[in-house]
Amino acid sequence: MTESLTVRDNRTGQEYDVPIADGAIKAADLGKIKASDDSPGLAVYDPGFVNTASCRSSVTYIDGEKGILEYRGYPIEQLAEKSNFLEVAYLLINGSLPTKAEYEAWVHEITYHTFVHENVKSLMQGFRYDAHPMGMLMSSVGALSTFYPDAANIGDAENRHMQIVRMIAKMPTLGAWSFRHAQGKPYVYPDNDLSYTANFLSMLFKMSESKYEADERLVKALDVLLILHADHEQNCSTNAVRSVGSSQVDPYSAVAAGIGALYGPLHGGANEAVLRMLKRIGTKENIPAFIEGVKNGDEKLMGFGHRVYKNYDPRAKIIKKACDDVFEVTGVNPLLEIAQELEKIALEDEYFVKRKLYPNVDFYSGLIYEALQFPPEMFTVLFAIGRTPGWLAQWNELVQDKEQKIARPKQIYTGDRTLDFVPASERWA
Ligand code: CMC
Repeated sequence: MTESLTVRDNRTGQEYDVPIADGAIKAADLGKIKASDDSPGLAVYDPGFVNTASCRSSVTYIDGEKGILEYRGYPIEQLAEKSNFLEVAYLLINGSLPTKAEYEAWVHEITYHTFVHENVKSLMQGFRYDAHPMGMLMSSVGALSTFYPDAANIGDAENRHMQIVRMIAKMPTLGAWSFRHAQGKPYVYPDNDLSYTANFLSMLFKMSESKYEADERLVKALDVLLILHADHEQNCSTNAVRSVGSSQVDPYSAVAAGIGALYGPLHGGANEAVLRMLKRIGTKENIPAFIEGVKNGDEKLMGFGHRVYKNYDPRAKIIKKACDDVFEVTGVNPLLEIAQELEKIALEDEYFVKRKLYPNVDFYSGLIYEALQFPPEMFTVLFAIGRTPGWLAQWNELVQDKEQKIARPKQIYTGDRTLDFVPASERWA
C-alpha cells in the first residue's frame, strides 16, 4: 500500500491525498492545493531549510539524535581509526572502498596533480601581505576554472574525474601557500615522495632543510582531522556547492562558493571563534560569569550546539581523544583545561541540557590546530581541505541525478505593489 497524507484545505473544504515516499512529501504536490483556480498553489515556508530535503543522497548518513555519522555506510569511528584521508576520499567519491590496484592508482593520480600552474602562484602573490588565507583559497580555487576551461564539460564522467583529482590534489598546495603568504615566507613546492598529509605539513613548515619530516603522530592526527571533516551531508557549504553546481557551472566555481559558505563563523569559522572565546575567558574562575552571559543571551558558547546533532557530536569525541596524542608531542595547550571545565559545566546546566546543546566538531579542533602551530585564520582552510572530497562527491552525485533542477527557491513577497513612480524632479521639488 502506498503511504499518503490527507490534507483538508479549510479555505475551500477540499481534501487532497498527498503521496509519502521515503518519509517525505513532495513540495510540488502541495503546490496543487489552491484557494481558487487562479490563486498560487500552497508553498512551504522554510528559512534555513530546517525541514526540507533538497536531494536524495547516498554519500553520508547522520542520525543526530543518536550521534551517528557514517560515510557510505562506514562508521566515522572506524574510518578515523583504520583508514586514511585519501582512502576515505576515494570511498566518498566512488561509493565503495578501493581494491589495492584502485587505491594505488588513486594515490598516484592525486600525488602527481599537486603542482599548480606558475600563474596561480603569481595570482596568490598579488594578495595583500595580511590577506585572510581563506579568502586567498576561495579566490585561487575559483581561478582554477580559468586554467582548466575543459572543466565546464560536466556531462562527461572522465572529465569530472579529472577535475576531482585535480582539486583534491591541489587544495593542500593552495592552502599551504595562503599560509606562507601571510608569514612572508617563500611558497614551498609539493614533495611527491611524501604522503598527502605529510606533504601538506612540508609545504606549510619547511624552511631550509632539504627534506621536511613531520612527526608521524602529528601526521596521523592531522589526517584524522581531515577524515572527520570530509563530509557532513547537506550542511551550509555543501548546499552552496550543490546550489551553485545546479546551474551546471564548472566544479571549481561551485567549490569556491562552498569555501565562501564555510568561511562564515556559524559554519567552518566556529573553531576560530572557540579559540578566541577560550582566550577571552582566560581562567577557570571566569567561567561561571561567562556561562551566565550565554544564558542571558549576551553571546553564544561557540563550539556547542548543532542543527542536526542533538547529542554529543561523534567527531568531537574522536577529536577529544586525538588531543592527547598531539599534546604528547607538542605539550598540553593550557586552554584545554578551560575547555574541559566549560564542557563539564555546560553538560550539567539546565539551559544547555534542555536545548540539547553538546560540544560539536569545532569545540576541541582549534586546540589541536593551535598546538600544531596554525594561527586561527588557518583553521577554516584546514576544514576546507578536509571537506573537498565531500563537496566533490555531492557535486558528482548532483550532476548525475535526473531529479535535480536548477536551485531556485520561492519567496513570500512582503513589499509594496504597483506604486506610481514620481520622477526625482517632482519628489524633491
Ligand atoms: N550557545 C548558547 N545557546 C545556543 C547555542 C550556543 N552555542 N546554540 C544554540 N543555542 C540556543 C539558541 O539560542 C536557541 O535558544 P532559544 O530556543 O532559547 O531561542 C536554541 O539553542 C536553538 O538554537 P538555534 O539557533 O535555533 O539552532 P540552529 O540549529 O539554528 O543553530 C548552530 C545551530 C550550530 C548555528 C548554533 O548551535 C550555533 O550558533 N552554535 C555556535 C556556533 C558553532 O559552534 N558552530 C559550529 C557548528 S558545527 C560545524 C559545522 O558543521 O559547520
